[in-house]
Amino acid sequence: MTKFHVLTLFPEMVLGCLNESITGRAVRNGIIDVKATNIRDFSENKHGHVDDYPYGGGAGMVMRPEPVYRAYRSAACEMEGEIRVIYLTPQGRLFNQKMAEELSKVPNLIFLCGHYEGVDERVLDRIVTDHVSVGDYVLTGGELPAMVMIDAISRKIPGVLGNDSSSEIETFYDNLLEYPQYTRPEVFEGESVPEVLLSGHHANIDKWRREKSLERTYDKRPELLADARLSEADRRYLERYIEEKQRQA
Ligand code: ADE
Repeated sequence: MTKFHVLTLFPEMVLGCLNESITGRAVRNGIIDVKATNIRDFSENKHGHVDDYPYGGGAGMVMRPEPVYRAYRSAACEMEGEIRVIYLTPQGRLFNQKMAEELSKVPNLIFLCGHYEGVDERVLDRIVTDHVSVGDYVLTGGELPAMVMIDAISRKIPGVLGNDSSSEIETFYDNLLEYPQYTRPEVFEGESVPEVLLSGHHANIDKWRREKSLERTYDKRPELLADARLSEADRRYLERYIEEKQRQA
């Protein structure tokens, strides 16, 4: 069972979210374990203060190292095997699908959510294994990024998605975007479902879907193609598609 443990000042925020929907079902089925510890519970201060003024002056407050360290130790002592400690920060490495897949193989993940202007560097140096950002923008705390990461990592753990194959052929598989999907009715507002999908001819359907994935990736996220796994047929198809587009432009 993969263990996720979030160190935060807002444990209800994290648990409320992750105990719902697919991650909630995985928790109830014993496939993942999600815990959240309030760092404030480890404050040595009778007011429960966990922050203090920055040495050297400047705006804002900094999280003190001791409560963070104690919260980390109490989480880590419940874990066996490899532990990765992820500090959520806009200064970290950008989170992506590949990282989600790699982290889904680690048995224990601790997420440290900072608030205020940051966390005392000494405790970060001692406990953090990975500094991770979820995008080039600044949020008010690490909770939403931790939830984003736990959601994306969980769905790569076998048994979390009901149907295992729905995580195999999806956006970012092979570094391509997913093909378009259709369901009933066959005609909506005068627009029909693509003919090939009604044909029952699986080879043709697979070919059509692959081509749509290639087209979409080229149109919406062309930079992904540099690292995509492409066959000779894929490359030829893309070349023709690009030529055709340039002719029409
Ligand atoms: N904390 C604040 N902003 C963040 C971001 N973009 N990613 C991760 N953690 C953060």
